Amino acid sequence: MEPGDYELVRVASGAWSVRSRRDGETFHPVVGPVHEAEALYVRQLDLAARARATPGEFVLWDVGLGAAANVLTALRALADVPVRVRVESFDHTLAPLAFARAEHESLGYFGGYCDAVDTLLDRREAAWTNGRSEVVWRVRVGDFPAWLQSPAAMAVPAPHAVLWDAYSPARNPAMWTLPVFRRMRELVPEGQRCALATYSRSTLLRVTLLLAGFRVGAGTATGEKEETTVAATDPAWVPAPLGAEWLGRARRSTSAEPLLEPVYRQAPPSPATLAALECHPQFRVEGSAPARTSDKIFAADGTDMA
Ligand SMILES: C[S@@+](CC[C@H](N)C(=O)[O-])C[C@H]1O[C@@H](n2cnc3c(N)ncnc32)[C@H](O)[C@@H]1O
Repeated sequence: MEPGDYELVRVASGAWSVRSRRDGETFHPVVGPVHEAEALYVRQLDLAARARATPGEFVLWDVGLGAAANVLTALRALADVPVRVRVESFDHTLAPLAFARAEHESLGYFGGYCDAVDTLLDRREAAWTNGRSEVVWRVRVGDFPAWLQSPAAMAVPAPHAVLWDAYSPARNPAMWTLPVFRRMRELVPEGQRCALATYSRSTLLRVTLLLAGFRVGAGTATGEKEETTVAATDPAWVPAPLGAEWLGRARRSTSAEPLLEPVYRQAPPSPATLAALECHPQFRVEGSAPARTSDKIFAADGTDMA
């Protein structure tokens, strides 16, 4: 992709946002980049408080760097926190960031971060003092699902917070498969808390996150979406967990079966998926027997997910 593949569009709020002409996607529709990033990621993932409470380095994964609105808004929120922050950004192209940097005055969210972005574009890594925090920001350019499954992924510090901002599952199915989210979950070591937020509230996504081993809940409205999704390794980081009512709807859904391959399709939940959901600790009532005789969680492909 080239910078010419992108344009600025004015969204309903009056803010400017980047649009990919080739993909036909506006990065932050309706409320614009800053409002969406603040509502969806900064507040919902409670970034400042969690960074403050994390011993050592606070690690943020920014999946779908794009025009960097999410990550720069997050960094601004962390500027008052005396903490070391490591940001790992992922995208298969730096073209939208180069385009946004050239249009930073209209976009308005670059603030004091133009030098850091220039360094990142130049060297793929930048380190600087961000108010009271110390930041190291790296970008890995390439196909994220392929990188995630590679040994290189194990050498990168696992995240405490994940900003998941790929294009929609219908347009960008490779970023929303069960193997991708399962691998994400596996990379977080036992005992480390990690929460992920994303704009989608689809049953397909939520079932995928549950089967990947996360606790999953309804996320807050962003202005564009009346509900989003939060997933975490620790139930304490899921303020509004999905419950029995949601499970009932998922059982009847015509689009609840996780994608196992990077091909979009809609299908009702398979018997293996339903069994895995019913065994999931999130839906087990304290003190009750599991829905199945086995205590294990099964993947949609029938393999154990212990
Ligand atoms: C909605 S945009 C991200 C917007 C961005 N978070 C921001 O704040 O400006 C989605 C991004 O995902 C990237 N993407 C799509 N498929 C990808 C893949 N397979 N690997 C890595 N990045 C991918 C696109 O290049 C695009 O920049």
